[in-house]
Amino acid sequence: MSYKDVYARWKADPEAFWMEQAEAIDWVKKPSKALWDENAPIYEWFKDGLVNACWNAVDRHVAAGRGPQYAIIYDSPITGRTHKITYSELRNRVATLAGALKAKGIEKGDRVIIYMPMVPEALEAMLACARLGAIHSVVFGGFAAHELAVRIDDAKPKAILAASCGIEPGRVVHYKPLLDAAIEQATHKPDFCVILQREQEVAKMIEGRDFGWHSFQYGAQPADCVPVEGDHPAYILYTSGTTGQPKGVVRPTAGHLVALNWTMKNIFNVDPGEVFWAASDVGWVVGHSYITYGPLVHGNTTVVFEGKPVGTPDAGTFWRVIQDHKVASFFTAPTAFRAIKREDPKGELASQYDLSSLRALFLAGERADSDTILWAQKTLKVPVIDHWWQTESGWPMVANPLGIEELPVKLGSPTVPMPGYDVQILDEGGQPMKPGELGAIAVKLPLPPGTLPTLWNAEARFRKAYLEHFPGYYETGDAGYIDEDGYLYVMARTDDVINVAGHRLSTGAMEEVLAGHQDVAECAVIGVTDALKGQLPLGFLCLNKGTNRPEDEIVRECIGLVREKIGPVAAFKLGCVVNRLPKTRSGKILRATMVKIADSQPFKIPATIDDPEILDEIRLALQGLGYAR
Ligand code: COA
Ligand code: AMP
Repeated sequence: MSYKDVYARWKADPEAFWMEQAEAIDWVKKPSKALWDENAPIYEWFKDGLVNACWNAVDRHVAAGRGPQYAIIYDSPITGRTHKITYSELRNRVATLAGALKAKGIEKGDRVIIYMPMVPEALEAMLACARLGAIHSVVFGGFAAHELAVRIDDAKPKAILAASCGIEPGRVVHYKPLLDAAIEQATHKPDFCVILQREQEVAKMIEGRDFGWHSFQYGAQPADCVPVEGDHPAYILYTSGTTGQPKGVVRPTAGHLVALNWTMKNIFNVDPGEVFWAASDVGWVVGHSYITYGPLVHGNTTVVFEGKPVGTPDAGTFWRVIQDHKVASFFTAPTAFRAIKREDPKGELASQYDLSSLRALFLAGERADSDTILWAQKTLKVPVIDHWWQTESGWPMVANPLGIEELPVKLGSPTVPMPGYDVQILDEGGQPMKPGELGAIAVKLPLPPGTLPTLWNAEARFRKAYLEHFPGYYETGDAGYIDEDGYLYVMARTDDVINVAGHRLSTGAMEEVLAGHQDVAECAVIGVTDALKGQLPLGFLCLNKGTNRPEDEIVRECIGLVREKIGPVAAFKLGCVVNRLPKTRSGKILRATMVKIADSQPFKIPATIDDPEILDEIRLALQGLGYAR
């Protein structure tokens, strides 16, 4: 069947389409129907089914005779370790960890925060929660104590599972002190913590609250899988919005299993038993969907890679991993390829490895620029597939479905909508636009299974952020256009979210931190174009009257403050002091105009600007930082 046929079949009868895909999942009780629309525009899928995510990701493969197959290959160039875990071993490890958590009182519906680096125990922690019906929330290791504290207060976890440390090139990230500080700052306190002591740094434990990973599990009775309703949250994953308060995206269990399983073959084109590798982090949605649940639910072997595309030890690391583990399908962010290309422009390292197992490269998380795609095509000699999605969707909204049909690649486009997604371009008034016209990218409701039904404890915010602007549609926050052939082009965000090295960050959150500096009266953070990371945050600071401390000292302190409060992942290193910010007469800061000046793009001076002369000062300040040339 062609892509067109599959998409048309979905469109003709979405419920039948998804009920059919649901057959590939093991149910304790099959759902009586697919879609529940009583609460429209809030929709739910497979609500009256009973299912367990861990059973589907682990136990069922053992039951089907796949026990000896590797489930996880841990490859850590940063520590020099590799470790392979079969499905049988994974089942035993997860059942024991779940048993220990259960013995300490963790039950269905309880929240558990996971703050861990890229080690197999992070996946085991997620699966152990899923086994009990507990709702996990993984927090990315590059976030600082304050961000962790915000998530603790929102999710109110009964337990936190963490590692003593993470390892970044040239430094050890002290997770445990960050965790202790976060618990100190948070109003909500977890009952207990389980800490994986790593040999690179053994953490100090707090008597009575902290337990060692292994001693905690000693003698634990393995736990069985607890059936949960189809709409039971599998996890909460916080992502950046417009403000400093992150959005807790809720992932419903059944829809997520059905949809992810469908994507593994139809988009990523792998069969059970093959090795699938997503070089991302469990702290991001890619890590949830395509390091943990997608490949495991589908019976693939997943690679847990603890390293960087360059420097661990060199720009050939990715090729070595593909060769050593016979990776069939590989997923990463364009930034990673830009980093490799910068070190090895001719791709010579790739020719030193046997990459014959690799059938395709998938890129997502940020805009894939043509140079990177062309370089990857030339270097790897396999299809290079851009695909577009977000934390909220949980799986690709627009892609080139290699397992159905390889559609012609158009540079700059992630290709076409996947079944489940009726993607449209809308004007400000919510009217569909013509091919080629730029507008807001929206998806006609209902969204398909596996997408967010709401935000954790914040339904009003969910409605306001995603549903109200364009009634009947989900607002993605991205802008772009669709061409005559139905190919989507994603051009920019419509909000203040920026994308730094494939990481989604809120400029609003950074502004909140900067505004907290004693000498800062007002500030604005914009995303400027960067050749490696796509975008970088840049802050403008207006100081309080009478401040006479050296400006560069204040800028340095502000940079330190963002690192301390949000974390190193914010990559906030560019700041300058200006007298005033350009604003409209009604007081709105003209961030988009500042971005255009920074990127040396042509722009029109907005008619509503209060004082156009401020733009000259902005340009000079930007030039001082190497921009607006
Ligand atoms: N724990 C703690 N700190 C982390 C971290 C983690 N898990 N991940 C990143 N950081 C730190 C980095 O060490 C760096 O700190 P520094 O300012 O002291 O150098 C900072 O956060 C910024 O990280 P990053 O933006 O990732 O830059 P980098 O210079 O370390 O690496 C790349 C650049 C291109 C190699 C890297 O960004 C990369 O591999 N990107 C791929 C993106 C990706 O996988 N995205 C996921 C979505 S698909
Ligand atoms: P995240 O929720 O962290 O996955 O970030 C999602 C956002 O990243 C999207 O809303 C887009 O702005 C951007 N993004 C992800 N994939 C792509 C892509 N293939 N092309 C362009 N932008 C992308």
